[in-house]
Amino acid sequence: MQVGDNLKEIAKGKAKTVYEYDEEHYLIEFRDDITAFDSVKHDIVGDKGYYNCQISAKLFEILEKNGIRTHYVKLLEPNKMLVKKVEIVPLEVIVRNIAAGSIVREYPFKEGTVFEKPIVMMDYKDDEYHDPLLNCDMIQALGIATENEIKKMKEIALKVNDVLKEYLGSIDILLPDFKIEIGKDKEGNLLVADEISPDSCRFWDANTNKSLDKDNYRFDKGDVLAGYKEVYRRMFGEVPKQK
Ligand code: TMP
Ligand code: ASP
Repeated sequence: MQVGDNLKEIAKGKAKTVYEYDEEHYLIEFRDDITAFDSVKHDIVGDKGYYNCQISAKLFEILEKNGIRTHYVKLLEPNKMLVKKVEIVPLEVIVRNIAAGSIVREYPFKEGTVFEKPIVMMDYKDDEYHDPLLNCDMIQALGIATENEIKKMKEIALKVNDVLKEYLGSIDILLPDFKIEIGKDKEGNLLVADEISPDSCRFWDANTNKSLDKDNYRFDKGDVLAGYKEVYRRMFGEVPKQK
């Protein structure tokens, strides 16, 4: 029997399942599912859940050490994370340091352009509308967050960017962009939630600019799991033979 077997399922997303753990906590299971383009592509990649869970846990720990509050509590199993209960703000908060992905497809930015000042974007987290970009007025009009909360979320996202960029730089990984989700706890505190993994970030090898993230799957650029394992190896020293 594994942790979670007897727990009530709260939500099943595309790659993670959330269970009720107790009054204060959820248990998040990182599955091996991988999807892209609102599940138009869907596959199972063996051990991906393990790598994403471990990578996320360590990145959350690094954020906490640097004074950024997150929902992370501890790992209960190699692919299962205990987290504080929060209500997720339905935004994908994206920070971009180098032009890649949709900003290159949809705006006149050249791939690889380094932004002097990071660009923060907030998309509406809603598959039906394909996660459209929102502006501050729209976020308020939709009742998603107040002006002050938007300001705070931007500050959190930029602080996360500084901490992640510095840590990843030390293991020769560039951070062109990433997405975080933010949750509100009972007291109204904003905590970094969800995951921070090669599913939700662009990670490029600093020497070759090669993707070590989900872009290998999205755009059939290479072996997706090999990239995740390489990120893990640089973070933890070696890839486990047996999990
Ligand atoms: P984009 O360039 O495709 O808009 O992606 C920006 C960042 O957001 C990138 O680091 C990957 C991440 N991302 C997600 O976490 N979920 C998604 O559904 C998409 C499209 C991107
Ligand atoms: N979350 C997106 C989906 O499955 C995938 C992506 O990250 O591009 O549709």
